Amino acid sequence: MAKETNKQELEGRVALVTGGTSGIGRETAILFARAGAKVVVAGRRAPEGKETIELVQAGGGEGLFVKTDVSKASEVGVLIQKAVERFGRLDVAFNNAGIEGVWTPIVRQSEEDWDRTIAINLKGVWLCLKYELRQMLKQGGSGAIVNMASITGLVGGAGAAAYSASKHGVMGLTKSAALENAKSGIRINAVCPGVIETSMADRLFRVPRVHKYVLSSHPIGRFGRPTEIAEAVVWMCSDRASFMTGQSLVLDGGFLAGPNSPS
Ligand SMILES: NC(=O)c1ccc[n+]([C@@H]2O[C@H](COP(=O)([O-])OP(=O)(O)OC[C@H]3O[C@@H](n4cnc5c(N)ncnc54)[C@H](OP(=O)(O)O)[C@@H]3O)[C@@H](O)[C@H]2O)c1
Repeated sequence: MAKETNKQELEGRVALVTGGTSGIGRETAILFARAGAKVVVAGRRAPEGKETIELVQAGGGEGLFVKTDVSKASEVGVLIQKAVERFGRLDVAFNNAGIEGVWTPIVRQSEEDWDRTIAINLKGVWLCLKYELRQMLKQGGSGAIVNMASITGLVGGAGAAAYSASKHGVMGLTKSAALENAKSGIRINAVCPGVIETSMADRLFRVPRVHKYVLSSHPIGRFGRPTEIAEAVVWMCSDRASFMTGQSLVLDGGFLAGPNSPS
């Protein structure tokens, strides 16, 4: 859990986190609240979503959970509507919801898995951007959005084609959205984590041999913690990052610094 975040940083702002029912999203929701924002959390699992809100409230914050599947336009529309009904506006969004899909070579990948991965990881971010931007523009502009990409949004991964394609797509979407909205005062960036200790990483790298190999690709000698991504996202959404738009921030323990040969 995170320690130091400036209480004033997001004071008076309303922040949305998709995929806030666990992992990186949950940690970011808690940090947004600690920085003074009112927090809206979206995800499909209601009990976990309510748990995140309880954690936000335990830290003295205010939050709302809206059960949402980000791959469905109607549900994303309702999410933004409920956020605005409850808190009056939307200033910050972290489009973080995502799935790993099935990691397997392309020749064995099913069309269903490809479609599902792209629908949640890429179309989901596009839908969120669409409805968030409409609201922010209606408010007269200004706002900050961070999209969740990955190091696999910058390099490929054998056996991870759909996931990697979806995250590369997020990078293109981020740059285009930033260009479209730069003059309006809405900043849009992406974050690219290496492997972070969450249930997704547990599912992907639970086989000891695979775990050891992937760990050895992180020169820092460990995987990241959700709070290490959340801290960066809070900064990117704050006025301290006021000249940053259309960019990505890589937080990967050195994964991409070299030729990525496991040590
Ligand atoms: N952990 C890593 O190593 C790592 C590295 C780079 C990038 N990432 C990215 O970080 C993001 C968060 O992942 P995590 O590691 O924190 O894993 P996680 O704990 O599995 O979190 C994934 C989140 O996405 C939500 N989600 C999935 N499908 C959704 C849908 N259709 N609609 C709404 N929400 C949905 C899940 O909520 P529900 O199940 O309740 O819907 C959950 O809150 C993902 O985009 C992932 O690709 C992770």
